[in-house]
Amino acid sequence: MTDLVPSAVKACCASAYGSDAARMLLGDSFHPGGAELTERLGQILELTPATRVLDVAAGRGTSAIFLTERFGCEVVGADYSLANIEAADRLSQAKGLCGKVAFQVADAEGLPFPDSSFDAVICECALCTFPDKEAAVREFARVLRAGGKLGISDLTRDGVLAGELDGLMSWIACIADAQPLSRYDALIKGAGLSVTASEDHTDHLVEFVTRIRTRLLAAEVMAGLQKLVLPAFDFEAAKHIATYALDAVKKGNLGYAIIAASKAA
Ligand SMILES: C[S@@+](CC[C@H](N)C(=O)[O-])C[C@H]1O[C@@H](n2cnc3c(N)ncnc32)[C@H](O)[C@@H]1O
Repeated sequence: MTDLVPSAVKACCASAYGSDAARMLLGDSFHPGGAELTERLGQILELTPATRVLDVAAGRGTSAIFLTERFGCEVVGADYSLANIEAADRLSQAKGLCGKVAFQVADAEGLPFPDSSFDAVICECALCTFPDKEAAVREFARVLRAGGKLGISDLTRDGVLAGELDGLMSWIACIADAQPLSRYDALIKGAGLSVTASEDHTDHLVEFVTRIRTRLLAAEVMAGLQKLVLPAFDFEAAKHIATYALDAVKKGNLGYAIIAASKAA
């Protein structure tokens, strides 16, 4: 996968997750464990109404809004996809949360926020898709204040994945460039942060992929009956990836984890 152009990967990823197909297959929360794992992340980071949080790659704003409602914290959500940011803005306006939650188009690898401007940074199911993970984690560390906390949840890889999981669609599906837990730890330490906790949540990944497979089959039937229009969506390729991904999870080659870290006070 070394021949992929980073800017094309980011644009493709943003376009895929801003599409109707992503919503239909994933719902509003684009990560395994949904609100339950987001709540767990909030507990680990000890969020309170006094915490200012940055949600990097916030998708449609589901987690940012959930965290505000659950913990009372102020959240800024940043995402590469304009369609997602617009959807997140609409949702926060409809919920009357505009004073507490804000959204902005941004690239995780070059965040448009000042140094030390957040108490906590979260990044759910997205670091694995960034072409330059070192730059992104360096940015997380830069925008955190001294004593601030980082919470990542992401796919983990152990060993070699099947060749069928090595392609752009698989990369965007958070699989092809998922890293071993030890590599995420090294990236975090390399950015000057200390890892404080990691938890395995692979059970949520099994549920997530199984649900996507079921929705894919249903969507294919609906598309066949012309009750659903998903232009240019490759059902065969998506089903193939879901099947191989589930197999990789069962073999222990793919997992899902939360990793927490802190910046020295
Ligand atoms: C799997 S989704 C996760 C979204 C959200 N965190 C959630 O859990 O619902 C990945 C998200 O990363 C965003 N993304 C991809 N590359 C990005 C980048 N370089 N900077 C910021 N966001 C990016 C995509 O637009 C997409 O919304």
